[in-house]
Amino acid sequence: MPDIIVRTHKSYTVQVQQDMGAFPTVLPLLKGPNVAIVCDDNVAPYFDVLAAYLGEKTLTKIVIPAGEAHKNATEYLSILNTLAAAHFTRDDAVISLGGGVVGDLAAFAASTYMRGIGLLAVPTSLLAMVDSAVGGKTAINIEYGKNLCGTFYQPDGVYVNTAFLVTLPRREQMCGWGEIIKYAFLSHTITLADLEGDATPTLIAKCIAIKARLVAEDETEKGKRKLLNLGHTIGHAIERLSGFALSHGECVAKGLAAVVGMSRRYYGLDEEWYRRAMAIVSCKGHDLTCPYGIEEIMAQLTADKKSHQGGVDMVLIDADLQGRIVPLSYDEIRNLML
Ligand code: GLY
Repeated sequence: MPDIIVRTHKSYTVQVQQDMGAFPTVLPLLKGPNVAIVCDDNVAPYFDVLAAYLGEKTLTKIVIPAGEAHKNATEYLSILNTLAAAHFTRDDAVISLGGGVVGDLAAFAASTYMRGIGLLAVPTSLLAMVDSAVGGKTAINIEYGKNLCGTFYQPDGVYVNTAFLVTLPRREQMCGWGEIIKYAFLSHTITLADLEGDATPTLIAKCIAIKARLVAEDETEKGKRKLLNLGHTIGHAIERLSGFALSHGECVAKGLAAVVGMSRRYYGLDEEWYRRAMAIVSCKGHDLTCPYGIEEIMAQLTADKKSHQGGVDMVLIDADLQGRIVPLSYDEIRNLML
């Protein structure tokens, strides 16, 4: 599988492999003598898999409790204190080994400890492989909301090993598929036939390549990177309304279905377009129903951190089944949802 280069202000490589065989090629990215592997208790057994390649380094193991609730300031400070107690300097590095929660938290710690140390991402969930491990968004949650505190901080490299997916629970697989489906509306390189198959290294690499292109064009989400929010504006509202009982990817799938309906009305698209769009969104059998009313969704939208005065830059799907950023007022959004 060819490497994918993410051409941000600091270019880096994403390798998509089917085992740890090529992992030694990323070791030169770890410059200093100290390496901390941050993982959660679900993937802690994989610590030894990585550690076997890091014999030359002084290793620190940092295990956080699994779950979004632990992507918080307490765990963040605990990571910083562990790094400081082990005398980490700017030459040293953190490896994030895990899904989106571990990835966001470990990257935020790496980006702020001594104003930034080395970072290597080793995503273990489908969602982290195709989305959160690439692109440099780091975050923790605070009392007032999810991901409200974070930085843009690109890693030094990303090592995707699809063998980790073998033990990934089905619900987590479906969560990742919510994001993969989104990519079909951001490039014609992903077809319905791709989506009907498995999460192969080829498909994962296609998703990462789409993300890498958008991130390279717009690293800090001032413009085109917003396309990656397709399905997320409504999806985030549903996720918050569910009290995070529904997974991120489940909510993105519901958000995509809502956007198909809104786009059809906005662009005046026909039944055949709707059939093709919904064939893509429903390809993995996600529950696409929205359990909340329009006013509940609208109340969430106005509180969303991506909202601006009077509206939201929504991503709609055009006649060519591709995403388009469309600034909409709250009234326009409400009318399109009716
Ligand atoms: N998850 C969307 C982004 O990285 O921009």
